Amino acid sequence: MGVTVIVGCQWGDEGKGKIVDLLSEGADFCARYQGGANAGHSIVIGDKKIILHLIPSGILHPGTKCVIGNGVVVDPATLCEEIEFLKKNDIDVTGRLFLSSLAHIIFPYHKLIDQQLEQRKAEEKIGTTGRGIGPAYVDKFNRTGIRAADLLDEKVLAHKIDLNLKLKQATFASLGIEEAFSPENLIQEYLAFGQRLKPFIADTSLLINNAIAQKKHVFAEGAQGTLLDIDFGTYPFVTSSNPISGAATTGLGIGPNKISRVVGILKAYTTRVGEGPFPTEFTQEFDERIRQLGDEFGATTGRPRRCGWFDALIAKYAVRLSGIDYFALTKLDVLDTLEEIKLCVGYQIGGKVVSEFPTNLADLEIAVPEYATLPGWQAPTSEIQNYQDLPQNAKRYIQAIEDITGVKVGIVSVGPDRKQTIFKEKVF
Ligand code: GDP
Ligand code: IMO
Ligand code: MG
Repeated sequence: MGVTVIVGCQWGDEGKGKIVDLLSEGADFCARYQGGANAGHSIVIGDKKIILHLIPSGILHPGTKCVIGNGVVVDPATLCEEIEFLKKNDIDVTGRLFLSSLAHIIFPYHKLIDQQLEQRKAEEKIGTTGRGIGPAYVDKFNRTGIRAADLLDEKVLAHKIDLNLKLKQATFASLGIEEAFSPENLIQEYLAFGQRLKPFIADTSLLINNAIAQKKHVFAEGAQGTLLDIDFGTYPFVTSSNPISGAATTGLGIGPNKISRVVGILKAYTTRVGEGPFPTEFTQEFDERIRQLGDEFGATTGRPRRCGWFDALIAKYAVRLSGIDYFALTKLDVLDTLEEIKLCVGYQIGGKVVSEFPTNLADLEIAVPEYATLPGWQAPTSEIQNYQDLPQNAKRYIQAIEDITGVKVGIVSVGPDRKQTIFKEKVF
């Protein structure tokens, strides 16, 4: 079966959690390959809503093993809380959760630097989640980071914490961080995390590659989305990792030839949390209407998400960057009451019309969207189970997305629940 990569096509929160949970039933492994607890992936089963930040969304299937890969930056406090939370919900992770020994660990100083940097930037802030993601990846690439395996060796951990605190003195001073971190306290706290997480720490690349060799099905669950990608996103208003599908290889330790398919998660409209350009953003009043209809509030920070029309330039860009085989189109039901629906098909930039997503932020900031307007369907869709039963205008909207991107919509999601899903095409 190989590896199926699930990737967000917009600015995150496309509904990856729901689709990964749905598709990974019966899978051998479900693995996160980048990001950290900045992610918030929601799964709804009946009246229960589970939000996962670090543990992959396949964990609800008892037969599926879950991996937090080497590409993830891990806050051990969040991970321990999540394990406890699942336990309280009768989900036992024993023997089926694995944390890469190579994954980098988030410390309290990463969070503080993240938050202080944002404050200092004032008007120029990114609007990060404040989870220490950027500073932890900085340490990783600076080769001063502390990894999961280090938590198991007191001497190594003590040395690395001491070194990090020394190296960071200048940063602390420049950011006006008064808080003095006691190396002794940090060492004890993180040694305790190490003991708690010891049963889960493993060579996860080996585990996954063994599963692939045995023809097992492996899911790689992306966090964030294409436009938050550190290279290809709306830099600097991005996260500090690569959510695009290629990162699944380096973030899990698998060869690119092991990826059999890529499913792109695409919201039927667009949302964004945090700062940065957003050409198809709604006017204030409409923004409020869709935010209420779609319950668009961040699963991690609770911040209101900014909302806008579907942008085909973004979808095409995601297809190009991640090699998407199928889309899962989510939250179609949120558009049920609209009289008409707009779909952005081009941008006017300085008098020129472009049909490809620009790489220059200055161009994006002045881009004026050109829209195709389609009639709404003004009928409820959230109970529909078969594609042919969708209203004609809903099918026309989906067809328009397929035509402009050249990629089929395999799955249509019409509600947060597992059951509210229409399989349009054979995805596997
Ligand atoms: P993720 O970060 O991509 O996993 O997405 P989030 O979980 O942050 O945000 C998606 C939100 O939409 C969650 O509250 C989901 O429960 C919800 N959701 C997912 N699919 C649908 C859908 O088809 N319709 C509606 N109305 N809600 C959905
Ligand atoms: P999921 O996986 C939406 C955004 C933040 C901010 C920027 C940088 O749930 O789709 P960071 O804390 O990563 O340094 O913040 O990225 N961001 C997300 N937006 N969904 C997410 O994850 C996000 N993770 C980070 O709001 O604009
Ligand atoms: Mg989310």
